Amino acid sequence: MVTDTPDRRFHVVIPCAGSGSRANIGAPKQYALLNGIPMVVHAVRSFQGVRGLSQSVLVVAPDDSAMVDVFKQWPQPKFFVSHTGGATRAQSVLAGLNALKAKGVGPDEWVLVHDAARCLLTPQLIEKLLLACLVDKVGGLLALPLPDTLKSESNGRVDITLDRSGKWLAQTPQMFRLEMLFQALMSADESVTDEASAMEMSGLSPLLVPSAAFNFKVTYAEDLQMAQAILADRSVSTVLAT
Ligand code: C5P
Repeated sequence: MVTDTPDRRFHVVIPCAGSGSRANIGAPKQYALLNGIPMVVHAVRSFQGVRGLSQSVLVVAPDDSAMVDVFKQWPQPKFFVSHTGGATRAQSVLAGLNALKAKGVGPDEWVLVHDAARCLLTPQLIEKLLLACLVDKVGGLLALPLPDTLKSESNGRVDITLDRSGKWLAQTPQMFRLEMLFQALMSADESVTDEASAMEMSGLSPLLVPSAAFNFKVTYAEDLQMAQAILADRSVSTVLAT
């Protein structure tokens, strides 16, 4: 059991400056409504109430005019909006880390980077990540052992079947110490699509923390329907339990 010490404190960076074009919903997907509430609000709410949550940031594109209004309608204590998103996810995360530094967050403090599009994250999964990583030298990420058979493709046909043993699907949150992550992202190349890869390029081995399939990233239009169904089921379960 982790005790309630300053070491338990953590910050969240939610990069939210992507165009979300693969979702094909006509607006950045973080604003898609699920059960009448924007996806990004669901994502942020999963952190509220988790012990240790401290000053956290949502990074949006410089020309984003919607997030401030969303936060007025659905206030999120401890989170502020920074209009400093960059051309890549890594640049947006770096901007978020800089925004936290500017607020006085120290180099050894823990930061959890989370996709706005993983809107089904639960406090229980966050707790599991914290318990595993707070005592770790490097930090780690939620991930799922690959359930399906893995194929590589050539011109639309199967090239070969790859060995799936020991392969994991990386999810978020990904949890690292602020300055270690900052330096790793600064020296990573353009190809990184998550924070763990930047740490790996720095020669570090992040911890894999077993997660759940429901923590998927809403990417395509049909994912929205699946997320909506799960959220609706959760709210029915909550009503039945009260
Ligand atoms: O495109 P993808 O789904 O991998 O994006 C993951 C997350 O990174 C999303 O929350 C997206 O808004 C964010 N992102 C960003 N800045 C970019 C590109 C993506 O904050 N330039």
